[in-house]
Amino acid sequence: MAAATTPGKIILFGEHAVVYGQPALAVPVSQVQVQVEVTDASRSGIWIDAPDVNLSSELSRLAPDHPLAAAIKGVFSALNISRYPNLHIQIESTIPVASGLGSGAAVSVALIRALSLAVHRPLPDEQVSALAYDVEKIHHGTPSGIDNTVITYAKPVYFVKDLPAPQGRGAVGEGKTIETFRVAKPFTIVIGDTGLPAPTKEAVADVRKLRQANPERYERLFAAIGSIARAARQAIETGHPEHLGPLMDENHALLQEMTVSSPELDRLTEAARSSGALGAKMSGGGRGGNMIALSEKENAPAVADALSNAGAKRTIITTVH
Ligand code: MEV
Repeated sequence: MAAATTPGKIILFGEHAVVYGQPALAVPVSQVQVQVEVTDASRSGIWIDAPDVNLSSELSRLAPDHPLAAAIKGVFSALNISRYPNLHIQIESTIPVASGLGSGAAVSVALIRALSLAVHRPLPDEQVSALAYDVEKIHHGTPSGIDNTVITYAKPVYFVKDLPAPQGRGAVGEGKTIETFRVAKPFTIVIGDTGLPAPTKEAVADVRKLRQANPERYERLFAAIGSIARAARQAIETGHPEHLGPLMDENHALLQEMTVSSPELDRLTEAARSSGALGAKMSGGGRGGNMIALSEKENAPAVADALSNAGAKRTIITTVH
């Protein structure tokens, strides 16, 4: 048997602007996870069971552009395996789908790892992430690659798309440069889920259209978000996580201006601030999905309660370290 487990992820700063080359910060969320187990099958074919999404099927019955089919075929093609072995793949996930916690990327990364292990050809992280990125394109259209990256490395990442890798930094497929960064002082984040699916693909496509219609305005918004992400990294690395609160508020206001927030996300961010959070913003694609709030550790349960009272369908308290 071969198995792999991946965490969820949350974007702290820089969503959407990251698609246009600005930096973004994301961290793993270990309270939710995906586990994939691959075993030999006694019958012929590749059998996939993913009870969380009500899927039970043989590979050939999935559409060719089904994300699971694409991930499996991607692994075999990367390994030059044309005669597929008989396998059973069991996928279990506690990551809510379309919530901004990276469920799609977490499934892809765990599946790619477990499958390559099962055929005794474990792939290096760079290749795992690059293959998961190909599947992300099916989910999200024109993704930046931040989700598959933070989930593959399971560490806080400072992510910049499409930059040549400078000396000494890791380059991860398709010209993406990632840097993991040091969290000098741990800090607490409360995640609140609106319970509404985040239509990331549409939100990213809408931002693209808005940018085409008004390039100067959108470049200005992206640049302002990039500056916030850089300042946030510095605050985290120098042991001043309290500076992240105002930066979250600023980043949220810019995302509102970009039209990717929603009344529900605005209500939850307001509720978090009113209950003593140091700052709050939506996280991920927006228009649904999750928001995050920075909180003193002791006050985090009160912030989580306030979020539930304001309509959050679930909350997670997580420490970034
Ligand atoms: C989605 O988790 C984050 C976005 O920036 C899209 C992307 O980076 O691919 C909205």
